[in-house]
Amino acid sequence: MTVVELKNKAKEAIINCISLEELKEVYNQYLSKKGEVSGLMSQMRNLPNEEKPAFGQMVNDLKNELETLYKNTLDHLNEEALNQKLEAEKIDLTLPATNFSVGQRHPLVMVQRELEDIYREMGDSIVEGLEIELDLYNFERANIPKNHPARDMQDTFFITEETLLRTHTTAIQTRALEMFAPNLPIKVVCPGKVYRKDDDDATHSNQFVQMEALVVGHGITLADLKGTLELLAKRMFGNTRTIRFRPSYFQFTEPSVEVDVSCHICDGKGCSICKNTGWIEILGAGMVHPEVLKMAGYKDPTVTGFAFGLGVERVAMLKYGIDDIRHFYTNDSRFLKQFKKFD
Ligand code: DAH
Repeated sequence: MTVVELKNKAKEAIINCISLEELKEVYNQYLSKKGEVSGLMSQMRNLPNEEKPAFGQMVNDLKNELETLYKNTLDHLNEEALNQKLEAEKIDLTLPATNFSVGQRHPLVMVQRELEDIYREMGDSIVEGLEIELDLYNFERANIPKNHPARDMQDTFFITEETLLRTHTTAIQTRALEMFAPNLPIKVVCPGKVYRKDDDDATHSNQFVQMEALVVGHGITLADLKGTLELLAKRMFGNTRTIRFRPSYFQFTEPSVEVDVSCHICDGKGCSICKNTGWIEILGAGMVHPEVLKMAGYKDPTVTGFAFGLGVERVAMLKYGIDDIRHFYTNDSRFLKQFKKFD
């Protein structure tokens, strides 16, 4: 085969390669050490000496030319292989994404935070206590001594004779008083879970959330309590709300009052929610009993304070028209999702 014939044949073979495997074979056939181009050199022996340099040069040129063509084809095929791989691995961004449902705050947490914000704007700090509490702080420091009949008002889960699951956030109040004494003023709000040996029904649960507020200083009066509660009622239930006090009894306050808010559903005219009275009872309150202050370390009789405690579930139920307290604890997403718009 002449040099020209070999050149044409090899060029065509390289150009026609459509895969890297084919190209490798063609390379072996023509350009490897034992390939046909090297084979041409063996013809050199038969040539007259004067033709040898020109022939050698021709074969070298051919080798260079074919190698360049081989290299270009190799690059081209490599690029094509890469493109094919990229194409195969392409992610289809037009596929619809998996739907993750985003959670939201629990309605009780929402109401708790809302209440805390109102207190915080009034300058209160938040104090938390212990769910497993000493009899001392839950009862005795709240002026409910051992064997006092007032203990019957709060059916208690006792753990030992001296420890219990706190029955009210008043236990945080007595702890806060001791913690701050003898400093003044005290302005705190105490949220927390409380426990009662109650039978569960639509309005009772053996575990619920309370929030206590406590303000102590020189010359704090019942009027301060009323002003604070009026603001709270308006913020929680609307600007036209008014409140009223009814005399009541708690061991840890003197005087004690029950507080009603004018009904936010019927604007005080009377409806089924307020049992046609126009008023809804929301919390217990009073002036901190002098004995409670004294036991915590405030001996000065001019130091006075008010306190109140409310049930967070009750406020949430009234605010959102929820008719069964058990909805808060069963975590039914159909119930919980309805509060997304308020979050
Ligand atoms: N501790 C009371 C209860 O659980 C609520 C309460 C009433 C708290 C009057 C107070 C208060 O701070 O002054 O029923």
